[in-house]
Amino acid sequence: MKSFGGAAKALGGMASGEVAYDATAAEAAKANLVAGSADVHVKFEKAGNDPASGAKPEIWTNWDDFVGKANALNTAATALDVASAEGIKAGMGAIGGACKDCHTTFRVASK
Ligand code: HEC
Repeated sequence: MKSFGGAAKALGGMASGEVAYDATAAEAAKANLVAGSADVHVKFEKAGNDPASGAKPEIWTNWDDFVGKANALNTAATALDVASAEGIKAGMGAIGGACKDCHTTFRVASK
C-alpha cells in the first residue's frame, strides 16, 4: 500500500502541475498501480494477518466486494493515459475514487 501512496502522489503532482511531467516516472507509477491492484487480494489473503495494520475485518467477510474494489482500481489504472500531464489529470479522478471507495469501506479511518 505504501507504494500506492507514492505512485498516486507522483501522478497527482504531475496532474496538478506541481511536479514537471516526466514520461518515465508516469509510466512507472502507472505500472505500480496496475500491478499492485492486480495482486491486492494476494497480499490480504490471510485473514487478520497483521492486527496493527489498518485493515478492517470486513475485508474477510466481504471478500468478493473487496476484490471487486481492487479490480475497479486496476481498470482505472489500466485506462490511465500517461502520455501527457493532461491525460493523467483526466484519469486521476477515477483512480482517486477507486482508492477512496475501498478505504471508506475496508480501512480503519485512524490508521
Ligand atoms: C481494494 C481495496 C483498496 C484499494 C483499491 C486501495 N487501498 Fe489503500 N488501503 C487498503 C487497506 C485495507 C488499507 C489498510 C491496511 C494496510 O495498512 O495495509 C490501506 C492503506 C493504505 C495506505 C496506508 C498504509 C501504508 O502502508 O502506508 C496508503 C498510503 C494507501 N492505502 C494508499 C492507497 C492509494 C493511493 C490507493 C489508490 C491508488 C489505494 N490505497 C487503493 C485498501 C485499499
